[in-house]
Amino acid sequence: MSAITAPRGTRDILPQESWKWSFIVNSAAETMKNFGFSEIHLPIFEHTELFSRGVGETTDIVEKEMYTFNDRGGRSITLRPEATAGVMRAAIENNLCAQGASVKLWNWGPMFRHERPQKGRYRQFYQIDAECLGIADAMADVEVIALSIELFRRLGLKNLEVVINSVGCEKCRPVYRQKLVEYFTAHIDELCPTCVDRLGRNPLRILDCKNESCGHAADGAPDIFDSLCDECREHFEKVRGGLERLGFNYTLSKRLVRGLDYYTKTAYEILSGDLGAQNAVAGGGRYDNLSKAIGGGKIPGVGFACGLDRVALVMEEQGCSFGKRPGTSVYCVALDEESRGDVQVLTHKLRMSGLSAECDTSGRGFKSQMRSAGACKFACIIGNDERKSGTVAVKNLSDGEQVSIPIEEAVTFINEKLKNSETLV
Ligand code: HAM
Repeated sequence: MSAITAPRGTRDILPQESWKWSFIVNSAAETMKNFGFSEIHLPIFEHTELFSRGVGETTDIVEKEMYTFNDRGGRSITLRPEATAGVMRAAIENNLCAQGASVKLWNWGPMFRHERPQKGRYRQFYQIDAECLGIADAMADVEVIALSIELFRRLGLKNLEVVINSVGCEKCRPVYRQKLVEYFTAHIDELCPTCVDRLGRNPLRILDCKNESCGHAADGAPDIFDSLCDECREHFEKVRGGLERLGFNYTLSKRLVRGLDYYTKTAYEILSGDLGAQNAVAGGGRYDNLSKAIGGGKIPGVGFACGLDRVALVMEEQGCSFGKRPGTSVYCVALDEESRGDVQVLTHKLRMSGLSAECDTSGRGFKSQMRSAGACKFACIIGNDERKSGTVAVKNLSDGEQVSIPIEEAVTFINEKLKNSETLV
């Protein structure tokens, strides 16, 4: 029988990588706290309608990328392709924005999209997501963009580009949409089959098609800035002003439209020069109509999500620091079979005191245990003599110095030694 492998587009994050992910998530948690965002845990599956109504029927995500199935009760369920719709649903359901209140929430976890796997693109991928709900003012957009930039600054990412655009609102976008339909209808011969199809349903998406000929056609397309209503134009100016006050560089792109339909006004992405085709490490924007689309009241929102897989990839490529890999400080070694019980007791006491301690549980010989101890700071050795005298031999593995101490003093002794060695570093 052939061995079962992970489904295409998924992968295991093994220990040699997982500690780096923890570093990124911990750094994000700290940054979120500094910016006043609280963590929220959401279901990984939701009613399919949340995404078809929230993300948009004509988006690639809803049309062809969702993992949708009927559960045993016959309900249509979808593995979440993104987090924003779920956060908004939770806010509506739990009345988090009642009477005009606002709330800032973040979460991280797996998302699912049936896309063609390639470098930096998976079918199960992970996002760190932040949403600010209940505030319509442009200062909230600036805060969210600043949060994403600050997260990447702390992680040490270089060579990033912040790209922003305004995609208008329900008042001015239909006018722009009509201009686009007219323009692209006149250039229909230059469009790829997907964009010909998009023309009638979602012409804005033609603007960010990666196909060369579509790109060419899009270059001459009407400019969205010329179609923005006064309110959207003013909002965009405020966002730009706020970013400039904070000293951030950004690029304007009239062709940045994003792949989700809920955006209104601000849309932005952060691109990395070190990722190849899938170059967005984060994307986000404002979504003032999402709440109504999924049956809630008026709750404006703005947020972003960054791709954890991609951030880890870029950090690796740029040689960024992931901090120190957590290791074991103390290894307890049994010289003979009879000492194994005492060794396990000592190991447990060391662990209870908050240290990372390890011992062999499989009955390996002394040499092999000492080899495992190699990467630790101390070895605690117990044999026949130690058992008889109630002592333990504590060996400093960096300088080879060995002392014999009463076993009941071992935990305090090692804790003291480790504290001193850390202050010396
Ligand atoms: P998105 O642009 O679809 O936006 O995804 C955000 C980020 O998730 C991308 O920039 C990328 O880093 C990562 N990502 C997306 N798809 C994949 C994939 N297949 N494999 C690996 N990484 C991927 C959203 O999801 C919105 N919910 C963001 C948002 C939050 N807007 C407002 N609030």
